[in-house]
Amino acid sequence: MPRVNRTTLLWLLVASSLIFLLFQLRYYRNYASETGPHILRRTPGHMTASDIQWQSMKTFLRLSRRFQLPLFLADPTLLGLLTQDALLERERSLREAHCSFLCSGRAVASFGLLANAWTYNAAFRLAAEEKGFELLEVRGEDPRLASLDLLSGEDIPLHLLLRLHGYIIQVVFLYERSGNYLWHGPLRLKTNADHGFAPFAQMDFGRHAGAYDRPQLILTVVDGLDIAIPLNISGFLAQHRRARFLECRYRDARRFLRLYPDDSSPEALDFRNKAKSLLQVAAKTLARLHVPFWISSGTCLGWFRQCSFITYSRDVDIGIFISDYRPDIIAAFLDAGLSLKHKFGKVEDSLELSFVMDGVKLDIFFFYEDGDLIWNGGTQAKSGRKFKYIFPRFSLCWAELAEVRVGVPCETLDYVMANYGAAWDVPQRTWDWKSSPSNVQENGMWPLAQWEELIQVF
Ligand SMILES: *[C@@H]1O[C@H](CO)[C@@H](O)[C@H](O)[C@H]1NC(C)=O
Repeated sequence: MPRVNRTTLLWLLVASSLIFLLFQLRYYRNYASETGPHILRRTPGHMTASDIQWQSMKTFLRLSRRFQLPLFLADPTLLGLLTQDALLERERSLREAHCSFLCSGRAVASFGLLANAWTYNAAFRLAAEEKGFELLEVRGEDPRLASLDLLSGEDIPLHLLLRLHGYIIQVVFLYERSGNYLWHGPLRLKTNADHGFAPFAQMDFGRHAGAYDRPQLILTVVDGLDIAIPLNISGFLAQHRRARFLECRYRDARRFLRLYPDDSSPEALDFRNKAKSLLQVAAKTLARLHVPFWISSGTCLGWFRQCSFITYSRDVDIGIFISDYRPDIIAAFLDAGLSLKHKFGKVEDSLELSFVMDGVKLDIFFFYEDGDLIWNGGTQAKSGRKFKYIFPRFSLCWAELAEVRVGVPCETLDYVMANYGAAWDVPQRTWDWKSSPSNVQENGMWPLAQWEELIQVF
């Protein structure tokens, strides 16, 4: 073998070894900076989504402490991760600098703000902008002022979005309403607003207005940061799942009342006061039993059509799903000061309870689910005849009637139309519950031998 070729080969070997060594070094540097101990300082370009989230959250929480924002973590995903077990685990460990709960990888995190205890101000906005946040404030009408007399309320802040490095913190303003609950408005962007500011479709708050009980809060440490959270996380999450709130249709109600002015006789006023007290007692009693209810029949029509009770209806009607029936409902109403007037049917079929307080009747109809339909029963005491009232399926929303928070079918128009037909918006003073409703059906007779048990009048 010629000598020249040997030298060339040697140099080639040395060169390739050097290149290989350089590769190893470079690879080690990269590897160490990604996953190994943090020997090398990270530049912002190397920040992971989780770092961004944590940094934004830290900056935001520091800012909110400085301005004493009455905040609590309301984000369903993050709260879902914070089970009680996980919390205990965290409390046992040190306040270590590690983001395991708050950095969910989602682009949005939401906080509730108790708006009656804090006024949004320019100083906060300025300080947030100084920290690098971009802000989007969503305002809307104050529904607490939007009554029948004052058509449009004052503008109030409903949502505040803070964006840092593409990560969004959503602050949901929760206002006290007269029915003793917290309310937040829908997130509606003005046409000239930046519709690309945030991934609005992914947000957990703002598609609709919402209603919540005032949550009991506790201060805790999550991922080394002090954060207030609802004490009963699962209770809060359960409320979140059915928080949708429907504002009364004040504009339509005004139009209706111009055509058909409200009865302002002393008897009508007296009925309204008594009906309000009765509804308050019913709502409180059923809340204590954790039994959801909604306003039904004439009471629902009154809310939907004129934002008040229909004075000539002379009673208050509510609905309860039979799956929520509890045997102690009767005792609870008796304890609350009502007297039982009648009990028709049985849990398996057409159950109906009637109470009376101060001369005003409270009818409780139990509703049965049957495929695409939901129905409740009626019984004529003197003849034993049975009736059936059929409704399309509906889900439950919150609403406010006479300063009481009540349930209503979310698909209210369908519900009202099923019951009262297309002419629901025309007052109908003569009404026969056995023949007038659009959705009534004859449903046979109770067997004579069971009357004593199934038709009880007190
Ligand atoms: C939390 O809320 C749920 C749902 O409302 C309820 O069933 C549960 O009893 C509550 N837990 C506590 C400790 O209050």
